[in-house]
Amino acid sequence: MSTTQLPKALRLPPLAAHLAAAAALTLLAALPAVAQPAGGKVKVGLMLPYTGTFAALGTAIENGFRLYVTEQGGKLGGREIEFVKVDDESDPAKATDNVNKLIKRDNVDVLVGTVHSGVAMAMAKAAKDNGTLLIVPNAGADAVTGAMCAPNIFRSSFSNWQPGYAMGEVVAKKGHKKVVTITWKYAAGDESVRGFKEAFEKSGGKVVKELSLPFPNVEFQALLTEIAATKPDAAYTFFAGGGAVKFVKDYAAAGLKKSIPLYGAGFVTDGTLEAQGADADGLFTTLHYADSLGTPRDNAFRLAYAKTFKLQPDVYAVQGYDAAQMLSVGLNAVKGDVAKKTEFAAALRAAKIDSPRGPFTLSKSHNPVQDIYLRQVGAKENKVIGVASKALTDPGHGCRM
Ligand code: PHB
Repeated sequence: MSTTQLPKALRLPPLAAHLAAAAALTLLAALPAVAQPAGGKVKVGLMLPYTGTFAALGTAIENGFRLYVTEQGGKLGGREIEFVKVDDESDPAKATDNVNKLIKRDNVDVLVGTVHSGVAMAMAKAAKDNGTLLIVPNAGADAVTGAMCAPNIFRSSFSNWQPGYAMGEVVAKKGHKKVVTITWKYAAGDESVRGFKEAFEKSGGKVVKELSLPFPNVEFQALLTEIAATKPDAAYTFFAGGGAVKFVKDYAAAGLKKSIPLYGAGFVTDGTLEAQGADADGLFTTLHYADSLGTPRDNAFRLAYAKTFKLQPDVYAVQGYDAAQMLSVGLNAVKGDVAKKTEFAAALRAAKIDSPRGPFTLSKSHNPVQDIYLRQVGAKENKVIGVASKALTDPGHGCRM
């Protein structure tokens, strides 16, 4: 409607109309950016490590995520997916700035990240403060689905407690009584050891020494000497990525592999076997994925992944794939309208995710309720030995929502 069609009392002289229009535009510009209307693209902010000791993990997560989107014809919930990427370098000191860039500068609809627990906690805080949807495709920080839980925060991976707890029971059943633990000193290492210790000591074992070094250091020699001197029945470890490769090689080179059996959360041998070679042979680990599940669902996923990326998938690829599946469930429920957060969350809470690892549901605090497999390394594969812990549910301590 032009001003000349307005009732006379509302008509403005041309200059005043111009000024009013300019004022309206200024006002619009000052308003916070609103999410794109349903029908446009969904902007996914991938915040992952593309450099440093976890670089390969970030790439596998992105590959997995993209594979699922491609399988759906590039659309989830009827909307095309657009990516914005940030290399978080697994650096907690840069995490808040990085996540705020994605939320405030790029106006992403959904955050997907990350690998490192310290970085993920900064993402969870920003997601909670801004109400942005967040799907965590690896980092196990217990708090993300514990004290920091929120209706808009979900995890497609695990809590650090889960594989650790499952391994505590396994090591006790093997008859070991005295164990030394060795890990990086940060949330993931601390919480993995805490989960292990809880189950191991409940079953009559004793953690006699807890060794650690700062993330992402790999100068293991002094600590390996200490393990040798302590002479425990076994050792339990959490390392991952490039650090895990070096740890397994150094453990064998120090001559410890023969005398003190090494057990770990499965990250210590996942995505790392090519580089670890024979030094990883025979190691027992616990994780929510394995290379030899042999189910039709996993076989199809592995084939598609290998064809697309000329690489074998690992647990990180599965978690990325499942993060995209979870986004799909949520977006389908709201017909692509990311603003409908309550309905989005309700759909995920009720969903059974058809994961290559086996189907899983989400706990009340939005962490996967899943089987934790016992695996053993052989012929460059993490082979399934059995289920160490069936439908293991993280306790979600401190979660109120
Ligand atoms: C973590 O920091 O939570 C973390 C990192 C790498 C892994 C697993 C957990 O492989």
